[in-house]
Amino acid sequence: MYNDIQTKELQQQTTEFLKQRIDCGIANAEAFRNILRFHEYRYYVQADPLISDYEYDTLYKQLEKFEKENPDAVTTDSPTQRVGAGLVKDFAKVQHLVPMLSLENSYNADDLLDWDRKARELSGLDIIEYCVEPKFDGASISLIYDNDLFTRAATRGDGAVGDDITINTKQIKSVPLSAKFAEYGIQQIEIRGEVLMNKNNFKAYNDKLIEEGIPPLANPRNAAAGSLRIKDTAEVGKRNLEAFLYHVSYVLNNKTQAANQPEPTTHSGMLQMLWNLGFRSPQKEMKVVQGINGIIQYVEEFENKRDNLPYEIDGMVIKVNDLQLQDRLGMTSHHPRWAIAFKFKARQATSKLIGVEFQVGRTGAVTPVAKLAPVQVGGVTVSSISIHNEEYIKEKDLMLGDTILIERAGDVIPQIVKSFTELRKGNEKKIIFPTVCPVCNHQLFKTEDEAVWRCTNINCEAQVVERIIHFVSKDAMDIRSFGDANVRKFYELGFLKDVPGVYTLPFDEIKKMGGFGEKSITNLQAAIEASKTQPLHRVIYGLGIRYVGETTAKTLANAVEHLNDFANYTEEQLQQLEDVGVKVAKSIYAFFSDAENIKLIKRLEELGVQLKNEKKEMVTDGNFSGKTFLFTGTLNKLKRSEAEEMVESNGGKIVSGVSSKLNYLVVGEDAGSKLEKAKKINIIQIITEEDFLKMLST
Ligand code: IVH
Repeated sequence: MYNDIQTKELQQQTTEFLKQRIDCGIANAEAFRNILRFHEYRYYVQADPLISDYEYDTLYKQLEKFEKENPDAVTTDSPTQRVGAGLVKDFAKVQHLVPMLSLENSYNADDLLDWDRKARELSGLDIIEYCVEPKFDGASISLIYDNDLFTRAATRGDGAVGDDITINTKQIKSVPLSAKFAEYGIQQIEIRGEVLMNKNNFKAYNDKLIEEGIPPLANPRNAAAGSLRIKDTAEVGKRNLEAFLYHVSYVLNNKTQAANQPEPTTHSGMLQMLWNLGFRSPQKEMKVVQGINGIIQYVEEFENKRDNLPYEIDGMVIKVNDLQLQDRLGMTSHHPRWAIAFKFKARQATSKLIGVEFQVGRTGAVTPVAKLAPVQVGGVTVSSISIHNEEYIKEKDLMLGDTILIERAGDVIPQIVKSFTELRKGNEKKIIFPTVCPVCNHQLFKTEDEAVWRCTNINCEAQVVERIIHFVSKDAMDIRSFGDANVRKFYELGFLKDVPGVYTLPFDEIKKMGGFGEKSITNLQAAIEASKTQPLHRVIYGLGIRYVGETTAKTLANAVEHLNDFANYTEEQLQQLEDVGVKVAKSIYAFFSDAENIKLIKRLEELGVQLKNEKKEMVTDGNFSGKTFLFTGTLNKLKRSEAEEMVESNGGKIVSGVSSKLNYLVVGEDAGSKLEKAKKINIIQIITEEDFLKMLST
């Protein structure tokens, strides 16, 4: 897309604009747009940014300001035109220029051999050249460019007619708003591709849903498909969608003088053309091979990489490379004869829903858990799966005795995809939700804005035990050797009644009771003692305030000198904090307005738990202030949590994924995809654990 000279020039101009604080005006607006397009391309298509997000934003804001003051000077393909246009009412139905067919599937080498043989017979060739590329597991889209401008995007729909999602697609930064197709003599083009949510973004998105008590999504494919159909366009932008474009389905030529590039005659040539024009085509991921052996080799090679890719793929697609030959082979009524999908081993499996248990969590939420006939999915045996709430059961139409489809996408907790209602025999039973708490028999309640039923008896045994388990857990006070089983046991024996009780365990009696070795008791005592000086954010997280996850707990801890300060915060003040919205602020406010909670906090402090923000002073001028870190792989000397705390206590910040915002990636043993990704972003410094420790001491 950009050759070395252009890259250098654009980068030089970027530096000049930034350093000399050159304002955007009539004369240089197009230069601003070009620079911003170039950096979007570096970031979203090449994954190799040259400037920081801050620098990009600075330039973007200048262009935005200029365009606001000069609305006549705005161009339709200006980078500012991606901005959401508010709420969409309904997506209009639009006809695809060429129907979107699906592909024939194959599952083993024999299927592929068969397919290649047929293609050779039909074509009369001894050996066929193929292009082999990943089968991206997302939502398919179709894009149209007219006279070099992006004019329409549509979902697949029924293959003939889809939904017009142009506005939402503008939010995907790897989809160019304009591209110089005229250079290839192309006046109109329809391009097919796949919209994806990468694994990191999917995990972050699901974590957020879980924190808000909303059922997580089964896989990134559903996340991508759902995101494309959101009616609030600004929200689409927040989902960080990506797109791979892999097929040209229609071309209208208009050879003009501008056409100085020959129109490609092969599929790989088309991918190259798309790549040259600024699209993210699978240019680097595909391979051109000769005959069936080449196919099998590359398919195997790619399957081995599957887990280390930043996005999900569910197989490979094999396409006849010569476009004329594609035409000659043509289509059946369902799919092209010139392409076939090879599906990898499924991460889905079917099982039977044999029972439902109702568990009570620390917030009183009653969660139905489906018991299944044990089944292997993606390498693990699954025998129970959370089915979240009553609404979810209705939505998925689940009944006892149903045959269900389960999916385990990557490292995601297994989820039920659907039930096969067509296989019902008539003896399936309705799942009846309890009306009283299965643990304490207290009446269950449900508020209008929530989908979960809750036991509101604050002293309900299940809740008390779960609250203690959460408090001592690894991500909260990290009291090793406590464990769920010990919490339950001490509770049953009456040694532990509430959270502060963790610090008043009658160790003499526990010793007398037997069943514990001398050493394990000493370890437990030491771990409890050590937890008293855990940083404040761990205490806050450990309190289990609704909607306060680890990240929010850190924000809260950084905002105050002492935990008690929150007793004087208003909801409005809480909302001023990063990422604290109305709902979260309400919850925090309610927590600190409750006398019982204040009493509990006071008791913790009396028992020696540190509630002051010890680090507040140091943080701003620490060794690492303003720097971001991420750890990957296994560390030898430090625990991951220790290392992260060291960063934070020295003023640095931990980020969740590899992006241009990351300054240092600290690499341990067996580092995987994060390292690969970081290598591509040349502004990230990749350091070892030793380097990190050295940096700390200097
Ligand atoms: S080619 C006419 N290439 O898989 C052929 N499809 O069942 C157009 N897909 O609907 C499709 N990766 O959504 C093609 N590299 C790839 C693909 C791919 C994923 C999806 C696409 C299609 C489905 C086929």
